[in-house]
Amino acid sequence: TKKLLIDVDCGVDDAQAIMMALAAPDVQILGITCVHGNTSIDNVCKNVLRVLKICKRLEIPVFRGASAPILSDSLNAGHFHGEDGLGDFPDPEAPGLDLIHKERAVEAMIRIVTEHEGQVCLVATAPLTNLALAVKIDPSFPEKLKSLFIMGGNMESRGNTTICGEFNFAADPEAAYIVLKDYVCPTYIATWEYTSHHKLSLDFCHSWMDQNTEKARFMKNIFAYSMEVIKGDRIKKEMIGGDGFLSCDSYAMAAAIDEKVVTEYIECAVSVELSGKLTRGMMVLDTLDLLKKKHKAFVMKTCDLEKFQCLLMAALK
Ligand code: BDR
Ligand code: CA
Repeated sequence: TKKLLIDVDCGVDDAQAIMMALAAPDVQILGITCVHGNTSIDNVCKNVLRVLKICKRLEIPVFRGASAPILSDSLNAGHFHGEDGLGDFPDPEAPGLDLIHKERAVEAMIRIVTEHEGQVCLVATAPLTNLALAVKIDPSFPEKLKSLFIMGGNMESRGNTTICGEFNFAADPEAAYIVLKDYVCPTYIATWEYTSHHKLSLDFCHSWMDQNTEKARFMKNIFAYSMEVIKGDRIKKEMIGGDGFLSCDSYAMAAAIDEKVVTEYIECAVSVELSGKLTRGMMVLDTLDLLKKKHKAFVMKTCDLEKFQCLLMAALK
């Protein structure tokens, strides 16, 4: 059984990734930690509880984490995920924040990873603030992990938030820098370009959400806002190469669940630009090995779309 710890800023694609993990066989979710990002930390906590409620898995512990980046001003992605992070489709009977654990996310992360040393696969689909704090509080945190899967960064200097910055890295560049500086466990990265090179067709999207289940109806409702943005936004369309949609966070989750989903990696050290006027938050690939870093990351290059789509389909069954 794979033991997962999931760190999210629960927007629509985080919800998709969580639902994928909940549906996967042989996966145990040890906890879900929340962090600022797509929306406020309170909304993130609420959204995770809503997803767990729909999936009837409210027994999974949820922890509240950092409410702002380490140094940068806060960003959010309300223009894409809706102001509340889940398409502004409220649930009047959503579980209350009293279900969030008293223990803070960063402490919970360190505790869980220490209790299950060498066994936890951490999937981070959000700004890396919680992870960076965990590394600073417990420098042995990365080496206690089995593996780390990140949705974030870029590999062809194309951003989706700034010219060269993907949202999760642009939202807290210092955090991304710290995490990638100190990683010592196998680290797998699903960049913005990896996701956009493997976009899903709108036909797939409809057959996915038209499944006759409560989970699929929930998805259709929370995804409606983003679908309108995708349809109407020329720049967004150009960025992903025509019609289609991306479930960014699900690409990282799928790789964590089934290693066969990724068919090729670029293996090299990576880092994050912190000071460039145009490039702050950009991930850089050290393919020439000039940084002489001991640890290399696995930057995802190609994806088995069929396997990926099967995992997505199962998420809404
Ligand atoms: C990432 O940014 C967020 O808006 C998504 O949830 C995803 O984690 C994509 O750049
Ligand atoms: Ca996310």
